[in-house]
Amino acid sequence: MLKKYCFFILLVVSLFSCKENEKEQVNAVPVLYPNQDAPLALLMREMYLDMEEMKVSLEKKENIKSYLEKHQAILTAKPTDPKVKDGKFDLMAIGYLESLKQMELGSYDLKASKYKIVYNYCLACHETYCPGPIKKITNLHID
Ligand code: HEC
Repeated sequence: MLKKYCFFILLVVSLFSCKENEKEQVNAVPVLYPNQDAPLALLMREMYLDMEEMKVSLEKKENIKSYLEKHQAILTAKPTDPKVKDGKFDLMAIGYLESLKQMELGSYDLKASKYKIVYNYCLACHETYCPGPIKKITNLHID
């Protein structure tokens, strides 16, 4: 019981700080975390899964789907903390989308190296705006 209570406090404290803890738990007990459903947070979870899918496809040398249109929503989706949407966020988001576009357009043998650029954009933006998920994002690394 005490443990549960502590976790809840931890959660409340970290809601606006982009910490990792609550995110790991979100899928397990969604009803406890209503505030984590900001459109940007939901989009990011999808972006993570999409990148994972791209990574698997690249490893299997299969074609990768286009996610550009879907991920454009990064520019308009409402974040949990409105303060993240400053001018630099938009620049980073545009850079990210451009890197995704370059990967999708490029010839297949360049896709793996262009994937790494996309991956670096995920990390770069997170270093500035949302360090919590960085460890999780590093699962998307390819050699
Ligand atoms: C332009 C900046 C930016 C880029 C680029 C970016 N993110 Fe995010 N990400 C954020 C912000 C800000 C949040 C916090 C969202 C919120 O809570 O509203 C976030 C949240 C997340 C989360 C946690 C979502 C949750 O609440 O469960 C994951 C996972 C994530 N991002 C993965 C990624 C991946 C993977 C990429 C690259 C494909 C990426 N991000 C690219 C800024 C960015």
